[in-house]
Amino acid sequence: MQKRKKILLIVPMLIGFLGALHALNAHSCVLLPKAKSNQPTSEAITRGTTQKRAIVIGASIGMGRELSKLLAADGYIVGMAARRISLLEKIQQEIPTQTYIAQMDASKPDEAIDKLNTMIKDMGGLDLLVIATTGFWDCDFSDSDWKKSLPVLTVDVVGFFALARTGLNFFADQGYGHLVGFSSIDGLHGVASCPAYSASKAFCSRYLEAERNNLIQKNIPIFVTDICPGFVNSRGDIDYTKVPLAYWVEPLDKATKEIFEAIKNKEHIAYITKRWQKVAALLPLIPNDLYNALSARPGGGF
Ligand SMILES: NC(=O)c1ccc[n+]([C@@H]2O[C@H](COP(=O)([O-])OP(=O)(O)OC[C@H]3O[C@@H](n4cnc5c(N)ncnc54)[C@H](OP(=O)(O)O)[C@@H]3O)[C@@H](O)[C@H]2O)c1
Repeated sequence: MQKRKKILLIVPMLIGFLGALHALNAHSCVLLPKAKSNQPTSEAITRGTTQKRAIVIGASIGMGRELSKLLAADGYIVGMAARRISLLEKIQQEIPTQTYIAQMDASKPDEAIDKLNTMIKDMGGLDLLVIATTGFWDCDFSDSDWKKSLPVLTVDVVGFFALARTGLNFFADQGYGHLVGFSSIDGLHGVASCPAYSASKAFCSRYLEAERNNLIQKNIPIFVTDICPGFVNSRGDIDYTKVPLAYWVEPLDKATKEIFEAIKNKEHIAYITKRWQKVAALLPLIPNDLYNALSARPGGGF
């Protein structure tokens, strides 16, 4: 009887909570504005071709570079952006199909979105936007000067948001599209060795999740994928298998193939490679004292 009473109390509370949540979402959730007049409208620029178009930002090296090649091989017209235009020119020569390149600095968001909009216009439209940039390598997280961590905030937070929002505005105007953003396993928990990077990647995941929820709740056929890699040997100059505390290091080709599949399947969140999903599931269950005890041990960190 006592149990039944409790259930009777809980049910209206749940209904009330869901109602309040719905009302809150209806009023405060992120809206998808129509493309502004200085942005290219899909109607104005989409050229009459069935060939799909993708832009990869952060395409000069690593996963963005390899993904650009896979997309081109899959029949996409690919646009590639990053700061090092000479590297983009090299990749352009390696890809036999039609490609576009643009020099872009995501830490300068106004300029970066202008370049993105120009690229969309030049390419005649956009189906897929991939943001694979990071300011990680321009930071020194061991330095207590806050400015030494600034690149991840300008690139992985502000730049990421500005570019993603601009892409979504274009997709909202044309009524379809697919946004893919790179977060990291480091965003799942506060990582002691790189606090600003960890926080920035948490931002990427939560932001993508919020946009996805908004689109799902409004039944808009625009897809949002969060690519969440663990350790990937993505750069020619650093071998993560030799880095202390790194584990489950994946080769670039294996990681990129999984990313490509996740994009094709329009997955919500893709852990790269899939076994990191176990870590993602486990982390919220581990009490903080145990996490810190394990994480501080050589070879024991998540
Ligand atoms: N590799 C890993 O183990 C790992 C693990 C977890 C998450 N991730 C994430 O996965 C994504 C790809 O990483 P990756 O390791 O393949 O490549 P990466 O070596 O970190 O390079 C990322 C790309 O970002 C570009 N970039 C950096 N700063 C930029 C800026 N200010 N404006 C425009 N482009 C900029 C770089 O090109 P330029 O220098 O030419 O501009 C490069 O093309 C990143 O978001 C990274 O945080 C990587």
